[in-house]
Amino acid sequence: MKITKIALLFAGIFGCSLIMAQDIKLPAPKKDGGENILKTLDIRKSDRSFKDGDISMQELSTILWAGFGYNQKGTRTAPTAMNTQDIDLYVFLENGIYKYDAKENTLNLIKKGDYRASTDRENGFAAKVTNIAIVSDLSKYERVKNHHTMNVFGAMSAAYVSQNMYLAVDGMNNDLGTVTRYGAHQEKQVKEILGLKDLEVVFLFQTIGYKK
Ligand SMILES: Cc1cc2nc3c(=O)[nH]c(=O)nc-3n(C[C@H](O)[C@H](O)[C@H](O)COP(=O)(O)O)c2cc1C
Repeated sequence: MKITKIALLFAGIFGCSLIMAQDIKLPAPKKDGGENILKTLDIRKSDRSFKDGDISMQELSTILWAGFGYNQKGTRTAPTAMNTQDIDLYVFLENGIYKYDAKENTLNLIKKGDYRASTDRENGFAAKVTNIAIVSDLSKYERVKNHHTMNVFGAMSAAYVSQNMYLAVDGMNNDLGTVTRYGAHQEKQVKEILGLKDLEVVFLFQTIGYKK
């Protein structure tokens, strides 16, 4: 009995360290270089034709930071209603799904495996490239006490984050392309995969890859 307990304890400790070891420490986001913001607005567009493969960790780090990181003012790179900071970013890579921890600049493993196709319709173009689910936790708006307004606020937050990611992608590297996609058709499935609560809504997917 005693030996079983000790074995279980070791298995627990070992198991935890394995899970933690699979989190990814991102390189620091690259905040210089690229086109200036006005030139980037002049070239921003949606792309839907990509080579197979995820983007680099350096690019991902910069795009996530641009989307909803912390800036030098101590605020987020995108605004949120009443400074609710309701957005969570989930990154779908070939080897697993990760949640972005902006403070630690880390990707925390949610699920191992390739779930990128689940973000798109069957045979969609997003299946073999990086996808970021932009999720609003509407429970953070509960004091608003009006479901329509909560949804509007969440959708607006998601849209700002998405536009920031467009600008990061189109401004930093000519080889990279991106498109924002409305998550409604896949939301139920993706919610299950991510283990989201009712009020955590997947508003958009940001699909990012190397252009063909
Ligand atoms: C809320 C929203 C939802 C969108 N959903 C999709 C989508 O599901 N699939 C897609 O390919 N593009 C989607 N787009 C991208 C638009 O089709 C695209 O922005 C539009 O055609 C204009 O092209 P541009 O971004 O190159 O200017 C969406 C854009 C927005 C703002």
